[in-house]
Parts: sequence; structure tokens; C-alpha cells
Amino acid sequence: MSDAATIRFLLDGEVIEIRDVDPTRTVLQYLREDLRRKGTKEGCAEGDCGACTVVVAELAANGSDVTIKAINSCIQFLPTLDGKELMTVESLAHGDELHPVQSAMVSQHGSQCGFCTPGFIMSLYALYETNPNPGRQEIDDALSGNLCRCTGYRPIIAAANEMYSATPAPRPDRSSALKRIQRNGSLCIEHDGRRFFAPVDANELAALLTQYPEATLLAGGTDVGLWVTKRHRELETVIYTGRVSELADVRVTDTQIDIGAAATLTDAVPVIVKHYPGLDEMFRRFASPPIRNAGTLGGNVANGSPIGDSMAALMVLDATLVLRLGVVEREIAINEFYHDYMVNDLQPGEFVARIWIPLPTDGALVRSQKWSKRFDQDISGVCTAYRLVLDAGRVASFRMACAGLAATVRRAEKTEAAIVGLPWTHELIESACEKLAEDYAPISDMRASADMRLLAVQNLLRRFFAETESGDTVTVYTYGRQH
Ligand SMILES: Cc1cc2nc3c(=O)[nH]c(=O)nc-3n(C[C@H](O)[C@H](O)[C@H](O)COP(=O)(O)OP(=O)(O)OC[C@H]3O[C@@H](n4cnc5c(N)ncnc54)[C@H](O)[C@@H]3O)c2cc1C
Ligand code: FES
Ligand code: FES
Repeated sequence: MSDAATIRFLLDGEVIEIRDVDPTRTVLQYLREDLRRKGTKEGCAEGDCGACTVVVAELAANGSDVTIKAINSCIQFLPTLDGKELMTVESLAHGDELHPVQSAMVSQHGSQCGFCTPGFIMSLYALYETNPNPGRQEIDDALSGNLCRCTGYRPIIAAANEMYSATPAPRPDRSSALKRIQRNGSLCIEHDGRRFFAPVDANELAALLTQYPEATLLAGGTDVGLWVTKRHRELETVIYTGRVSELADVRVTDTQIDIGAAATLTDAVPVIVKHYPGLDEMFRRFASPPIRNAGTLGGNVANGSPIGDSMAALMVLDATLVLRLGVVEREIAINEFYHDYMVNDLQPGEFVARIWIPLPTDGALVRSQKWSKRFDQDISGVCTAYRLVLDAGRVASFRMACAGLAATVRRAEKTEAAIVGLPWTHELIESACEKLAEDYAPISDMRASADMRLLAVQNLLRRFFAETESGDTVTVYTYGRQH
């Protein structure tokens, strides 16, 4: 079997090589069923509960720094581990000596039935390795993808604070070990007539997609993974974008934020929020750290769910998508990309290469809001975004887009047109709220009834007005527990 067909990764200092494996076997299945390494638990098998959380280390783009992040092993396919180090709850203790994260959980009584505990330990371990002095909000955020039904979060948060007081655990030289397992070319697996390709550059990716236009493009797998674990779909050919470094970069030019479609949300979001602080709440509440560590902005845009969170913001910012088919690239405004429910402008074999977001120019107030049943780690009932320019108290320009109100995320064009040029007043907002009913005919589903959705969006618009009432200053909503 050639090197190109061998998945190679590190586990507890050993190089693991796997050949001839089902390419959509999940990391969790491999751990529990093949290695019988059962510390990592399966709760939901859809990225929601965090019981399966593991940590991966990989070389950063500069080829020597190492990034460490928690991910959900239940929805990650095994070949995506190639070239990385995997750490599970069994990796942490040295003999009888617990890792400081584990000791702190013991001494703070952070576990009762214990089912969620390995997942919490691994989320805390990722925090321990990446943030030497987290505040309470950072600890809450780090744990937002882990559910505990019986202990309650207070002792676990106390453990998070205590874990730093022990003598620091020794840190191995991960960089050298990771360098030794890097491959030069692509990974190409064939098993039972099914294929998995992990190309290393965009030309090869484009060529493979031209050769296999019906293939499933896999980025972070936080949507695609569930097609396998929940819908039991058999994916015949999978092409993975995660090793194409030229699609994973995030650059800021004089005019725009230029995001490779395979950049993770964890890498892309801080750059977006730096330039548009009003998008902070929506991105902070986008899933959980393990999902954002794997999931990409390109995947969110390409998946095009009507309740996806990023698109409303990208629409009001007039973002452009760069699409590529073979050697040909074309640009399309995101506002023209979606045609119908889960139908977009991509042609067979074409992919999203980059997302361009213009930098702020004219003092616009930009804001996005998310409304969901749970504050953390929940899919939106509705999600809104606004871009407002005021001139002497009048609306010089206004854009608003909503997710959760139609078959696609869409701009509120009638509402936008109705208020431009008018004074930005309470009365104007009330008439805009009426107008919203002409822009959207929401559906009822398990998340909310149609009436509830419309009312939620109207109230979110009222809140946006309340925050901007003074005209020239905006009280940026401060993230907190209150809605
Ligand atoms: C527990 C959980 C919570 C979630 N919470 C949220 C949330 O709060 N808000 C939200 O919006 N979403 C949420 N999601 C959905 C998901 O995380 C996002 O849609 C994410 O951005 C998908 O990115 P990905 O890289 O994982 O995509 P993948 O799953 O790899 O791919 C998704 C789709 O996009 C296609 N695709 C990927 N990259 C490209 C490309 N470059 N060109 C063309 N097509 C491409 C794939 O073929 C597939 O059809 C959640 C998912 C889970 C499991
Ligand atoms: S098993 Fe629930 S997140 Fe993976
Ligand atoms: S300890 Fe029982 S679910 Fe958390």
C-alpha cells in the first residue's frame, strides 16, 4: 500500500498508520470500536453535547508553531487526522499522576455520573494549553459546547480556575514530532469503491472536482459529518479542503478582508470582529468552540442553510464570493448567490475559493443579532444583520438581512427602501416593523411559529434602534447572560 494511501497521525507519542479504512469512519468510532479506548463518550453523535470532545495539535501555516484545539470526534472523519496529533482523556495522566485539569476536577467535585466528564476535561485541557489566564467569560465560552446533566457547572468552573494553580504539566516538543509525519503529496484513500482525497493545493483541488463533479466537498465536516452519523448517507467520493493551505489564510488588504474558504471560524472570526465589533455577539454564539475550530466560513456560506448565521452579516456588508471551476475564477455578490432552499449558484465541480468582505468606510453602524431558545450552542430561530448610515439624524443608507424567515437568508428590500431618507425615529422603526411582514412570509417549525419569528425580528429591529438612538454613537451591545 503506497504512502499516499496511509493515514498517519500521532497518539500518545506513537505514530499510528492506518490503511484500507472506510473514509467516513469517525474518529470516535475508531477510538471506541477499533482501539477500545472508551474514555471518549458518545452522547448525541451530532456535535451538540461535547461528550466526545478530543484535542488535536497541528502545525500552523508557518510550519513550526503548533495550534491546539478541541474538536468533536463524533463528526470528524478519520482521514482528517492525517498529519496531526490526537489527544484523548487517556493521554493526559502520566501513570498515577493526574494532569492539573484532572486534579482540579477531582478536588472541586466536578463530576457525578461522569458521562460528560472526559469531554469537559478535554475542553478544559485545550483552554489550559492555549490560554494561561482566562477570565470567567472565556471559561464559560470554552465550556459552551459541553453539556452536563447532573453536576452543574459551578464546580466545573471552579476546577477551571484551580487548574492553573498546580505546577504546570510538562509540555512535549510537539513541533518536531509533527514535522516528522508530514507528507509531501496528497492523501488518496480507496476503500470498497469509495474514495477520499486530501489535496494539498488549490489547483489539485480544482482538478479533482472537475474529475469528480458529484463528489462531496468536505471542509470542517460540521454539516457533512451529520449526513453520515444522522442520515446514514454513504458518501462515494469525498474531497477534503483542510490541507489546502492557500484556502485557509485570512488577509486584510487596503480595502477588504480576504478569507480563504477553508479558514476555520476560529481563525476568520476574530479578524472580522476586529473590523466590525457589532458582529461579536452573533459569532460568539455561533455553535461552540469545538465546532468553530473545525467549521469554516466557506462551509457555512456554501451549505446555505436558511438559518445559517453568517450570511445575513455578509449580505449587509455586500460581501463577494470568489468561485472557481477548473482554472476559471468568477466573482459573485453573496446577495445573488442563493436561488432557493439549499440551492445556490455553484455549478457542478465549482467551489467557493474566497470570501471578500469590504472594510468599513463611511461610519456605518453594523450589527448582527441572534435569537435562539438557548443562549449558547443553539441554532438560530432567527438571525438578523443591519448596516446603517445616518446623516444628520436621517437614514442615508440602510441594509437589513434576516435568516430564519424564508427559504434562503435574504435582504429585507422593501423595508430598506421604505425608510431611506427619513428621520431615524421610533415612529420610523414602527412603520419598518409593519413593512417587514411584506418582505417575509416565515414558516412555522419546531424552533418557532411563523408569528413568533416575525415578532422576534421586529423586536430585534426595535432593539437595534434603541442601541443607535442617539444618532452618531452606537451602544454596542455588551455580551452577557441577559438577552
Ligand atoms: C452542534 C452544531 C452547532 C452548529 N451551530 C451553528 C450555528 O450556531 N450557526 C450556524 O450558522 N451553523 C451552525 N452549525 C452548522 C455548521 O457548523 C456550519 O454551517 C459550518 O460553518 C459549516 O462549515 P464546515 O466547514 O463544517 O462545512 P462542511 O460540513 O464541511 O460542509 C458544508 C457544506 O458546504 C460545502 N462546502 C464546504 N466548503 C466548500 C467550498 N469551499 N466550496 C463549495 N462548497 C463547500 C460542503 O460540500 C457541504 O455541502 C452547527 C453545526 C453543529 C453540528
Ligand atoms: S457525541 Fe455529542 S458532541 Fe459528539
Ligand atoms: S456528571 Fe453526569 S452529565 Fe455531567
